[in-house]
Parts: sequence; C-alpha cells; structure tokens
Amino acid sequence: MHYKLRYNQQHPPVQGKLFFILTILLFVLAVSCSENEEYPQYNPPSDHNISKDGVMHKPGLSDPEMNCTNCHGADLTGGTSQVSCYECHGAEW
Ligand code: HEC
Ligand code: HEC
Repeated sequence: MHYKLRYNQQHPPVQGKLFFILTILLFVLAVSCSENEEYPQYNPPSDHNISKDGVMHKPGLSDPEMNCTNCHGADLTGGTSQVSCYECHGAEW
C-alpha cells in the first residue's frame, strides 16, 4: 500500500519532464529542417540586404521587371545570376 502510493505520486513529474524534453527536441528538429530544406541557399552580393524569411533580396524587389532582370534574366528565370525567382515563388511576374 505504502509503496503504491509513492509510485503514483512520483510518476506525473517524470512524465512531465519527458514530455518537455520531447517537445524541445521536436521543435529543434522542425526549425533545423525548415532552415536547411525549405529554400535553396545562395551567396548573393551584399547589396541584397532585405531579408525575407532569411532569403536576401535586393532593394526594389517589388518591381523586379525593372530592377532584377539585369542579373536574374529578362524573364526572371535565372539569367547570369543563375538564380530563378520562381524557385521559391509562384508565377507572380
Ligand atoms: C548585379 C546583379 C544582380 C541584380 C541586379 C540582382 N541580383 Fe539577386 N542575385 C545576384 C547574384 C549573383 C546572386 C547569387 C547567385 C549565387 O549565389 O549563385 C543573387 C541571389 C539572389 C537571391 C537569393 C538570395 C539567397 O539568400 O538565397 C534573391 C532572393 C535575389 N537575388 C533577389 C533579387 C531581387 C529581388 C533583385 C531585384 C530587386 C535582384 N536580386 C537583383 C545578382 C543580382
Ligand atoms: C531562395 C528563395 C527565393 C528566391 C530565389 C527569391 N525569393 Fe523572393 N521571397 C522569398 C521568401 C521566403 C519571401 C518571404 C515570404 C513570401 O513573401 O513569400 C520572399 C518575398 C519576396 C517579396 C515580398 C513579397 C511580399 O508580399 O512581401 C518579393 C517582392 C520577392 N520576394 C521578389 C523576388 C524576386 C523578384 C526574386 C528574383 C529576382 C525573388 N524574390 C527570388 C524567397 C525567395
């Protein structure tokens, strides 16, 4: 009787700790996955100083046909930079 009581009292905190650790592990996993796999990684010039979810864009991004075609191609599919806007964006332009 005495043993059973102690057993029941000790278990909830242990399970709480386990759940806490598992939650942190899952969170770390989710974050590292999204950083490594969601978008391709490039090495843009330093004038690409506007971060969009960690992806660096050059100022003037709202008018790409005006500001980005020199390097990303007239149709924005890569050009000399070889980085297509459509790798990450839908058919927006
Ligand atoms: C002078 C040339 C040039 C112009 C103009 C230019 N880019 Fe780039 N951009 C590059 C180069 C070079 C890279 C990197 C290529 C590589 O790493 O292989 C790049 C990469 C990028 C990336 C990927 C960055 C990353 O962190 O992965 C984005 C987004 C981008 N450019 C957006 C833009 C936008 C938006 C514009 C217009 C407002 C623009 N660029 C204009 C040359 C240019
Ligand atoms: C490596 C991935 C990647 C590339 C390549 C890329 N973008 Fe983006 N861009 C993003 C992300 C991520 C965001 C932020 C989330 C969103 O708004 O969709 C973003 C946001 C934007 C926005 C702002 C949208 C808003 O509503 O705030 C514009 C405009 C834009 N990008 C233009 C461009 C142009 C133009 C190019 C090509 C020159 C380009 N992007 C290339 C990933 C990328």
